[in-house]
Amino acid sequence: MQVITETSLPFPLFRRGKVRDTYDLGDSLLMIATDRLSAFDVVFAQGIPYKGIVLTQLSLFWFDYLKDVVENHVLGEKLPASLKKSEEMLARRSLIVKKAQPLPVECVVRGYLSGSGWKDYKKSGAVCGIALPKGLRESERLPEPIFTPSTKADVGHDENIGFEHVAKKVGEKTANTLRDLSLKIYKKASAHAEKCGIILADTKFEFGIFNGKIILIDEVLTPDSSRFWPADQYSPGRPQPAFDKQYVRDYLEGLGWDKKPPAPQLPEKIIAGTSKRYIEAYEKITGKKFER
Ligand SMILES: Nc1ncnc2c1ncn2[C@@H]1O[C@H](COP(=O)(O)OP(=O)(O)O)[C@@H](O)[C@H]1O
Ligand SMILES: [Mg+2]
Repeated sequence: MQVITETSLPFPLFRRGKVRDTYDLGDSLLMIATDRLSAFDVVFAQGIPYKGIVLTQLSLFWFDYLKDVVENHVLGEKLPASLKKSEEMLARRSLIVKKAQPLPVECVVRGYLSGSGWKDYKKSGAVCGIALPKGLRESERLPEPIFTPSTKADVGHDENIGFEHVAKKVGEKTANTLRDLSLKIYKKASAHAEKCGIILADTKFEFGIFNGKIILIDEVLTPDSSRFWPADQYSPGRPQPAFDKQYVRDYLEGLGWDKKPPAPQLPEKIIAGTSKRYIEAYEKITGKKFER
């Protein structure tokens, strides 16, 4: 199995993100999830085997599962004929998608109190201006899922913003739609995940405008964009063990690294453990065996 950390294809590069390489096909985009790992917004030199495939295939599962709730950007998996030679490298990690106008908001939904939500709550008793009951513990389930948007920073970290701020950026009507759609998607997806033994603690969606309509773009409900917790080990009052990237984050926290580039070299064990967790998340959520 080849680990892919960078692609170089004969199409104009539309964008090289932290994880995905996207090419401009004219009318559509070719989005390739590489095996790159980013943590604390720093990209690592080493790739995680199968990670890109898990991201793309899990996103595809969710796009389909959610298609009655929200229209999405997927056109298909069929590669342009000129890429025949690279098919083995690109298969299962590539998607042809509609070229949308991304909306400049990260649509975060939290069902549990963790990460930056927990930090904000400890300081102010609220998250993104939404007041929460007193006395909640770390990782505690919220009375209701909440919409806690953040900025989409090109460089550096995303910052939590209030609903009013979103309305200023995209207009009141669109802001309402983004919140309603995000909460609807979260509720449907988290109910499914829970049946699979996974708590969907929080997640981030991106939306874009295509043909005048708001559609779901980017990746959805993957370990990169969400916190997945094993339900059978859930116990509030502390951080939770996780299927997702948290495993690497925890390792890195233990190193005392300043979270600035360059990223440290990861031990083989951490790379293999991360790969295993991504695959496990895929298998639990889809109920399908992952083909290595
Ligand atoms: N259908 C789409 N149309 C246009 N842009 C998109 C679409 N889907 C995703 N994108 C953008 O492509 C990028 C995906 O690459 P990624 O590696 O996730 O980047 P990032 O480092 O910004 O997270 C994101 O900036 C996302 O907003
Ligand atoms: Mg991204």
